[in-house]
Amino acid sequence: MKETLLRKFRAAFGGEPTVIARAPGRIEFIGNHTDYNGGTVLGAAIDRGIWVAVRAAEAGHAVFGGNHGAAPITVALDASLAKQSGERAWVNYQLGVWAKLPDFGLKQPAGFQCVDVSDLPPGAGLSSSAAIELATGLALTALAGEAPERATLVKLGRKAENEFVGVPCGILDQGVSGFGKRDHLVFIDCRGPAFATVPLPADAHFWVFNTHTKHALVDGLYAARHRECMEAAQALGVGLLADATPALLEAKKATLPEANYKRAKHVIEEIGRVAAVQAALATGDLAAVGRLLTASHRSSQNLFENSTAELDFLVDHLAQARHVHGARLTGGGFGGAVMALTNGTFAQADAEQVAAAYTAKFGAKPDILHLKTGPGAELIPVG
Ligand code: GLA
Repeated sequence: MKETLLRKFRAAFGGEPTVIARAPGRIEFIGNHTDYNGGTVLGAAIDRGIWVAVRAAEAGHAVFGGNHGAAPITVALDASLAKQSGERAWVNYQLGVWAKLPDFGLKQPAGFQCVDVSDLPPGAGLSSSAAIELATGLALTALAGEAPERATLVKLGRKAENEFVGVPCGILDQGVSGFGKRDHLVFIDCRGPAFATVPLPADAHFWVFNTHTKHALVDGLYAARHRECMEAAQALGVGLLADATPALLEAKKATLPEANYKRAKHVIEEIGRVAAVQAALATGDLAAVGRLLTASHRSSQNLFENSTAELDFLVDHLAQARHVHGARLTGGGFGGAVMALTNGTFAQADAEQVAAAYTAKFGAKPDILHLKTGPGAELIPVG
């Protein structure tokens, strides 16, 4: 990846970068839509991600080397700086990070050139957006001579996405990309936020099935779920749903619209499942963990209603398959990918069987990814 990155930088700008950073994508292990509700979540940084190379350049301009030989995109870094649209929209994550640096008391590089390369499949629900935010945050702060705390980088990435890109996501994706560790899960108490790592028992394997389906209104649906959760919290008289109990929800059921009741029930019970998964991980009981993962999916399917026929089909088949502990949709939902937790005996041929059943039903083949955990965002020596 580093050689590809350097070649791309030279082709775009005719020289060497001064800083290289990489950040991983993530699997949402459990804790679906709990993050922006002040709850808890467990995720895994994976061994694939995005690499960013930068160097200082003419003040007042950011230049992004385009993909596949496309001309670089130049953006003026002045008071007119705004979200880009159309074919320029892909630079918004990086621009957003630059724009939000002062909010954290960090210096902005006056001008820079930048390229990136990725081995993360896009649109697979593995959070390429957080990966590019974290890698860019590390690279731009290093370029400006800053060394922010890890939690600050994570918050910077989220703020860029919330306020510049305009997606009301929680802290899960950026937190896992920032705090990831090989053979560990990242635990986040999203209210602090507070971050910790939890050892993953040996013989825990992740398989991701990417359906390449995506609801046309996915951003709007995410925002709608966010709104329903906030309305439910208000009706329950709590600041965030993480403060509500199952008993409080049942006592106030009649005061909530049906949809909001279901969203709240999902979030409150999902936070309980995260705690139960932590307890099962501590005793190495992967079978119990798997049952909780599948229960999380059923709750997404029936209560949060962010699943699809394609994702349900995969979970139904995986839940029956040999060597699989459990399976669930991973990420925001409304299409995307399903993650299965398996033992080490589950093999490519088993995955192909599930994929073949999917193809027979839906006519398209899902991508199969056997993913390993990997380290969180890091600077990489240039030389
Ligand atoms: C997306 C968001 C996260 C989180 C998940 C759902 O991945 O970016 O912040 O809300 O959806 O759990």
